[in-house]
Amino acid sequence: MKKNKIIVLNFGGQYDQLIVRRVREMGVYAELLDCTTPVGEMELENTAGLILTGGPQSVNDENSLSADDAIFDLGLPILGICYGLQYINHRFGGSIETPDKGEYGKTPLNVDSSSELFQGIPEESIIWMNHRDRIKDLADGFSTIAHTANAPVAAIENPDKEIYAVQFHPEVVHSQYGQQILENFVLKITKAEKDWSMEDFAQEKISQIKEKYEGEKMICGLSGGVDSTVAATLVSRAIGDKLQCIFVDHGLLRKDEANSVMETYKQLGLNVKLVDKSEEFLDLLKGVTDPEEKRKIIGNHFVEVFEEEAKKIGGAKYLVQGTIYPDVIESGKDKASVIKSHHNVGGLPENMDFVGLVEPLRELFKDEVRKVGSSLGIPEDMVQRQPFPGPGLGIRVIGEVTEDKLRIVRETDAILREEIKNYGLNRDIWQYFTVWTPIKTVGVKGDKRSYDNVIAIRAVTSIDAMTVEAAELPYDLLQTLSSRMINEVEGVGRVVYDITSKPPGTIEWE
Ligand code: XMP
Repeated sequence: MKKNKIIVLNFGGQYDQLIVRRVREMGVYAELLDCTTPVGEMELENTAGLILTGGPQSVNDENSLSADDAIFDLGLPILGICYGLQYINHRFGGSIETPDKGEYGKTPLNVDSSSELFQGIPEESIIWMNHRDRIKDLADGFSTIAHTANAPVAAIENPDKEIYAVQFHPEVVHSQYGQQILENFVLKITKAEKDWSMEDFAQEKISQIKEKYEGEKMICGLSGGVDSTVAATLVSRAIGDKLQCIFVDHGLLRKDEANSVMETYKQLGLNVKLVDKSEEFLDLLKGVTDPEEKRKIIGNHFVEVFEEEAKKIGGAKYLVQGTIYPDVIESGKDKASVIKSHHNVGGLPENMDFVGLVEPLRELFKDEVRKVGSSLGIPEDMVQRQPFPGPGLGIRVIGEVTEDKLRIVRETDAILREEIKNYGLNRDIWQYFTVWTPIKTVGVKGDKRSYDNVIAIRAVTSIDAMTVEAAELPYDLLQTLSSRMINEVEGVGRVVYDITSKPPGTIEWE
């Protein structure tokens, strides 16, 4: 049996997903499981080794997190990171202390032995520390293989048991040889096979779906975004026109978006029905100014329309969704506050008679989804699309939404997109858009007094949308944007640039 998987046991550290990513980048499949998962529930057949992540607790705390102790009897190599190191040392009879001072950030590391874990690593290098607790007495059977100024025991090993552990974070880019250390563990110590590639993933997924669901009818709601497009394309390559897609135009899309997205879907051979409900949505939004209320109205009506259309089609047993790995992880943990309302993980719509969900991208990170998309021949413009919120331009018009305000947002947004692309910045910026504000300002246009609205430009850089910085747009670009928007779009009196980071601001204004 092939050993081609690493299980990462999550003790709640900040970098848990990053460890999974680093292993996958080597070409080895890795998955994150809750640290308390019983060994009996782990799929161990193909597992080559385990990694125990960091976490915020102290092993000396009452009720501190621990794994099923049977992981130590599996005969599989184990690597502990940060809390993982402390946990292993504690488990094997060593002790942990909480010194006055912690160690945070870039720190010089001295390697003390020729451990397999540190093969090819110089005696001194920089690693990333983020800890307070440290090892006091080493557990029997273990030896120290590295130290830092403040952590006399910064890495340990017990080669007979194939257990290794480091106090620092090799998964963080600031650890100079971090990836090498992880590769030493995954490729040399566990000898995991490298067979994880996105092309293979796509082809395997298509044949699995074909085998399991051929002949079944399925429905998929398309949003114009990357995830639903890739999910639908994968499924349609497996079951063809038995997949019926529905694309609801709620009238809150960007300029020409409905047409261009439909064009792409057709090129991809998707069987899509366009349902234009723009007028209904605008009617429902009349007189509504509260952002949450607007979101609810749009979200609820969207579901209603989708359900109605799905019923019309009839006979579909399965619902296809573009759920991706970060959505699964976020909903699996007790992290309700970070889950966004649009994430519809693992749940079936209440009023529909589906037998089940098909979520072909559940194991993938966003950049992996993009690679799968490219390997399926989905155009780059679609694959590299910036995120777009479900409620669309409805939350980019502050207060009541009207056709005329939507026109202003659409036109200014189109100018922004065009100029950012001309400047070659479209790949560097996470998200960029304009916001219609209800502020009216006085100006002078062609010798006449004008009294028009303020448009705000928002452009942010980010890795995951959880934290963002305002993008440092070049000044000449900002000047072009301001002059084009005021000259070309009726109703724009002034243009401002939003430099708020998140937190405390959010990306969207509403
Ligand atoms: P915020 O504004 O919370 O946005 O910083 C974070 C990311 O989520 C997107 N967003 C949404 N996406 N439905 C969605 O599908 C929503 O209701 C929604 N609200 C915000 C936002 O564009 C950004 O990428």
